[in-house]
Amino acid sequence: MIEISHIKKGFGGKTVINDVSTVFKTGKCNLIIGTSGSGKTVMMKCLVGLFEPDSGEIIYDGKNFSEMNEDGRKELRQSIGMLFQGSALFDSMTVEQNVMFPLDMFTKNTPAEKLKRVNEVLDRVNLQGVNKKFPGEISGGMKKRVGIARAIVLNPRYLFCDEPNSGLDPQTSLLIDKLIKEITIEYNITTVVNTHDMNSVMEIGDHIMYMYQGVKEWEGSNKEIIFSKNKLLNDFIFASEFLQDAKNMRMLEAEGKIDSQDLDDLAKKG
Ligand SMILES: Nc1ncnc2c1ncn2[C@@H]1O[C@H](COP(=O)(O)OP(=O)(O)OP(=O)(O)O)[C@@H](O)[C@H]1O
Ligand SMILES: [Mg+2]
Repeated sequence: MIEISHIKKGFGGKTVINDVSTVFKTGKCNLIIGTSGSGKTVMMKCLVGLFEPDSGEIIYDGKNFSEMNEDGRKELRQSIGMLFQGSALFDSMTVEQNVMFPLDMFTKNTPAEKLKRVNEVLDRVNLQGVNKKFPGEISGGMKKRVGIARAIVLNPRYLFCDEPNSGLDPQTSLLIDKLIKEITIEYNITTVVNTHDMNSVMEIGDHIMYMYQGVKEWEGSNKEIIFSKNKLLNDFIFASEFLQDAKNMRMLEAEGKIDSQDLDDLAKKG
């Protein structure tokens, strides 16, 4: 569990994160959603210590990250895996070397032990036979998988994924989402995912925080989002008229003003 309270962050006098508090639960996919520039990446960078918040606290399972010294943070960082926006693989290293990198950095394992672990995680993300390939030689979806394999190679307790679906087709996106969700449950990780992908919200959004101009505008589950009356959230999620109509129908049905027979009749009418 990661608890954040009253996080603020600005750059050059411009506030980017404004007094945000929430709880990211263990074994769940916690989503941060919001339009481009709403502060998702800055928030994630604050969470992992790449940016220092101007004020507020970040508490990892009772340990106050904000008050830790460099040694404490270094230790905690070893239990954090991160998939960066755009994968951020080393282009001059093979897939195997990329995934092995954290093991080289943080463990004293033998080369054989490291290779065994690399193959285990590559297997876990369904990538076989690509060890010797370079990132430039594999597809976008495969790069994301390599990024995920690298993020989980040290058995993290916390996993951060910044836009894991950017640049992927809807079906590949779904596979990546499902993989993140499976891994989260299987290893009981506290996972935080930044996204603006509506499919991801519905597929894996156990807990969703909607950010608007640096402020937490709404939070809840993927089931609750359908019925939310928050105008800003609805304008963001149900951006097209088609989705807005579908949502309105669903609301009318839920409120008993329309029944499923009416919906069937409408469907038959075309
Ligand atoms: N290092 C920085 N220095 C100054 N301003 C920054 C810095 N990083 C981010 N910002 C500003 O913070 C705001 C939020 O940016 P952020 O990258 O968090 O958005 P985002 O929600 O992740 O958007 P996207 O969906 O496009 O990834 C933007 O206005 C951006 O210009
Ligand atoms: Mg971003």
